[in-house]
Amino acid sequence: MSEGIHTGFDEQQYPHINRGLDGIVAFSTTKSFIDGQKGELIYSGYLIDTLAENATFEEVCFLLWNDRLPNAKELESLKTLLIENRELPQPILDYINATDKDAEPMAVLRTAVSMLADFDDTKGKYDPTLFEGQAIAITAKIPTIIAAFDRVRHGKDIVAPLKEGSTAYNFLYMLNGEKPGEQAEKTMDLCLILHAEHGMNASTFTARTIGATQSDMYSAITGAIGALKGPLHGGANTAVMNTLLELKEQGDDADAVAFTKKKLESKEKIMGFGHRVYKTFDPRARLLQTMAKDLSEETGHQELYKWSMDMLNTMKNEKNIDPNVDFFSATVYYSIGIQPDLYTTIFTMSRVSGWTGHYIEQAANNRLIRPRALYVGEKHLDWVPVEDR
Ligand code: SDX
Repeated sequence: MSEGIHTGFDEQQYPHINRGLDGIVAFSTTKSFIDGQKGELIYSGYLIDTLAENATFEEVCFLLWNDRLPNAKELESLKTLLIENRELPQPILDYINATDKDAEPMAVLRTAVSMLADFDDTKGKYDPTLFEGQAIAITAKIPTIIAAFDRVRHGKDIVAPLKEGSTAYNFLYMLNGEKPGEQAEKTMDLCLILHAEHGMNASTFTARTIGATQSDMYSAITGAIGALKGPLHGGANTAVMNTLLELKEQGDDADAVAFTKKKLESKEKIMGFGHRVYKTFDPRARLLQTMAKDLSEETGHQELYKWSMDMLNTMKNEKNIDPNVDFFSATVYYSIGIQPDLYTTIFTMSRVSGWTGHYIEQAANNRLIRPRALYVGEKHLDWVPVEDR
């Protein structure tokens, strides 16, 4: 299919509107491929299952920024740069300390990422030779922001980032104040790999739209965070956990089947289910399901997995709808002791790699993104003075 210019919009005729831009192809990309019928996901050539089994999050970052895997030297260099970029400028630490302790973590993250631009030596200059450095700086600092705010709001001292270790390892260390075990690091790393990239989802589209005005990368990522925060998108993982906690309040013998049916009867959306592209099981949900089962058993939260399966079977029977990435990730994060309102920030920690990859790709073949809207209001009204209205 060509990427030509079509100017078929007729102001007089009622055009077909694809609500929610459903089915519209806006760009070509080398970042990811989704087969929504088969339930297949590929990042720059590699099946998600292959990456989940073999890659680290840092390798996935390189892949999304360069469309190829790094060699050993390139990987070491990227890891070093990510480590060197972890610390936050003092004014951002001051902001984190000063802001409302009840603020939403995603809101704090959005503000802090926006502030980062002021302290970047490049000032977010729109120059392709600077993009990868800016992407590294943002990716490295996001975990530090999340952990710092979580500690401050719990009245604890901020833990400075380590000068070693993976993104996953350092994040858990900064969050908990102690070095994580191998299993916890592996779980976190896998979650970061699984959430890194997903085609033209709402937040990535936002990042590309902002990038296409030739605005700076910090603006694009700030906007993308705002889009990811919503419960129809990344915010769903926190909403899933809130649903499971609602069941927990009903006691160990809570009836998740009846609970789900009741919500469906009252036309409520069941969080963590459904997807614009997948018409089958999301492959990431499949991988997270195995982790959720194992971890919930190991940590004595079996009931969460049981209720999840009851919900899953009810959704399949009643609506033929499958779970998405946000469904089982909630149980995984809960089992490793992460507070529910941080879940979407962890999604951000990972997805920033995809957002920045798309920003770089957009710049390489840029055109302003500017669709049309069909005006359905009145026209040519007579002016009525204010005192006569
Ligand atoms: C993510 O796009 C991406 O790639 C996103 C993502 C990524 O990695 O970037 O995969 C991450 O955002 C996952 C989605 C997280 N959101 C949720 O879990 C929220 C709950 N799900 C939905 O509201 C919904 O399924 C969406 C928002 C995900 C998709 O919305 P669509 O494509 O606009 O579908 P729709 O709302 O028009 O629903 C179509 C039908 C409707 O039924 P009918 O009116 O036609 O009878 O499916 C039903 C809906 O009512 N439906 C649901 C449902 N999801 C769809 N019914 C109950 N519960 C649900 N969750």
